[in-house]
Amino acid sequence: MELKPAADMPAVTAIAEEILELKRERRAILLAHHYQVPEIQELADAVGDSLELARKAREFDGDVIAFCGVWFMAETAKVLNPNRIVVVPDREAGCSLVDACPADQVKLFRQRHPDHVIVAYINTSVEVKALSDILCTSRNAVAVVNSIPREQPILFLPDANLGNYVKRQTGRENMKIWQGLCVVHATFTARRLAAARAEHPEALVAAHPECPSELLEQADFIGSTSAIVEWCKKAPAREIIVVTESGILHSLTRVAPDKRFYFIPNEECNCSECPYMKRNTLEKLRDCLKNLEPRVEIPEEIRQRALVPLERMLAIN
Ligand code: 13P
Ligand code: SF4
Repeated sequence: MELKPAADMPAVTAIAEEILELKRERRAILLAHHYQVPEIQELADAVGDSLELARKAREFDGDVIAFCGVWFMAETAKVLNPNRIVVVPDREAGCSLVDACPADQVKLFRQRHPDHVIVAYINTSVEVKALSDILCTSRNAVAVVNSIPREQPILFLPDANLGNYVKRQTGRENMKIWQGLCVVHATFTARRLAAARAEHPEALVAAHPECPSELLEQADFIGSTSAIVEWCKKAPAREIIVVTESGILHSLTRVAPDKRFYFIPNEECNCSECPYMKRNTLEKLRDCLKNLEPRVEIPEEIRQRALVPLERMLAIN
């Protein structure tokens, strides 16, 4: 995959210049997830995983956050920045995990199981966060669950694969797991990984914990997107099979230009791209900075309730 030529094309460069000008005018910060297209990552003030971007969102001077990721990530930024404008290039940049976990169902669970602590993955709507006790990301999920007394019953939501991974890592018995799935990671299969390993027998394997457990069993490393980037940089291998969304290749190539990275196609789209993350484009980023729309708005009462579990998570190192 050639990364640089796209950013060097005159049309792309002209839009990039417009974006940088608008960024100055708006006093905006540009945050981007590793799954964004390379042209967006190149312009960003910070590229990171969900936890790093949440931390970045509360440490800056300025009036506007242009969040190049998916909607729940921008909502998290807004919870931390009620007085700043938070925009996303495309309003339809959602997430299958958010869709799998409606707030009314979580409310019902709460009423029926008042003794359970709800641990919500950050890939949830702000309404679900407001109903939860503590949040987690793929980077700190094990630490978050370990911070809860062992005898305490837990509901982990909404990602079933991450929940099962955390359950195995922590040895928790009393942990119910919501049955949501990531449309990208849940459809990577052990069969396709085995085929890639047969093709590249020297390669190590790094995988995101949203993948199914039979695939994670074959991985040399399991972690968040940024943890995968950090591990690949140091790993004693020239070839690595990376089982996550292929947008991460840009960050991997930056930190380890001499290594070769392979991606496996999932069974859903025969690709390794998140259809939500890929809705954001350079043109839409320019337009959202120009129009300050689509803008994240959260009722203050929900924001304040969602802030509590978010702050609890951010207090955990
Ligand atoms: P990370 O927090 O690991 O970047 O994960 C976000 C995500 O949506 C993975 O699909
Ligand atoms: Fe959601 Fe999966 Fe896309 Fe991540 S990769 S944003 S979990 S659909």
